[in-house]
Amino acid sequence: MKGDLLYEGKAKKVFLVEGDSQALILSYKNDATAFNGKKKANFIGKGKYNNLITAKIFDYLHRKGIKTHFQKSLNDTEQLVTKTTIIPVEVVVRNVAAGSITKRLGIKEKTVFSPPLVELFYKNDDLSDPLINEEHARILTNVDPFEIEQIKEAARAINDLLLAFFQSVNLQLADFKLEFGKDAKGNLLLADEISPDTCRLWDMETGEKMDKDVFREDIGDLIETYDAILQRLEAVK
Ligand code: TMP
Ligand code: ASP
Repeated sequence: MKGDLLYEGKAKKVFLVEGDSQALILSYKNDATAFNGKKKANFIGKGKYNNLITAKIFDYLHRKGIKTHFQKSLNDTEQLVTKTTIIPVEVVVRNVAAGSITKRLGIKEKTVFSPPLVELFYKNDDLSDPLINEEHARILTNVDPFEIEQIKEAARAINDLLLAFFQSVNLQLADFKLEFGKDAKGNLLLADEISPDTCRLWDMETGEKMDKDVFREDIGDLIETYDAILQRLEAVK
C-alpha cells in the first residue's frame, strides 16, 4: 500500500499510496528541530506521540465540522491523509504572547490578545519563514484575497474549538500554527499536524510549559512532556 517517498521534511516523511493517487501517508519522525533547524536532536518515541496526538485533535475538529485532510491512523507513527497541494503560508494564531512575537515586537510574554491575533508567515526554509501580510501572500501564492480571508476565518474558528478542547484537559493554548492545502477538487482542507511541536500549551494550574519549548529552552524532558499531553487527551471522550 505504501508507495514511494514523495518528500522528506524536518519532522515528517510523506509517501505516495499505491492504488490511490488522492491519498498520502504521513510518517512522523523522531527528529526535533528548533529555530529554523539551527538546533537539532532526536527523541525515540517523538514520532509516535505527534502522530497519535495529531490524530486525536484532527478527529475532534472533524467531529466539530472542520474540513481536514486526516483520514485515519495506520500505526503508531503513520497516518493516511487526503492529498493536498499545501499553500506555503503558516497561519499562527496567538491567544497570549510568547515566542517570536515577544522578540520581534517587544510584547511582554503572557500579554493577552483579545481578539486572538492571526499572523501569516511565508513557508520557506531558505528565508527562515518570514512574517508576511495578506498582499505578500497574494503575490507569493496562488491564493486569492477571498481565500486568504477564508483561511483566517477558519483559523479563528479552529482556535475557538481548540481553546475549549485543551481547556477541558487543563491546558491553556497560548498559540499554534496551522497549514492549509487544496485537494484535487480545489476544496480548502486543514492539513499538516497539530501537536506539541506546533502549539504552545501551558498547564492551567502551574503554568508549566508542556510543548516543544521544553526542547527549545532546555527546560524539561520532551518525551515525558509529550506523553503527559497524550495521556490527558486520551481521557477525552
Ligand atoms: P513562534 O513564536 O516561533 O512564531 O511560534 C508560534 C507558534 O507556531 C508556536 O506554537 C510554534 C509554532 N510554529 C511551528 O509550528 N512551526 C514553525 O516553523 C514556527 C516558526 C512556529
Ligand atoms: N522553527 C520551528 C520551531 O521552532 C522548527 C524549525 O523550523 O526548525 O518550531
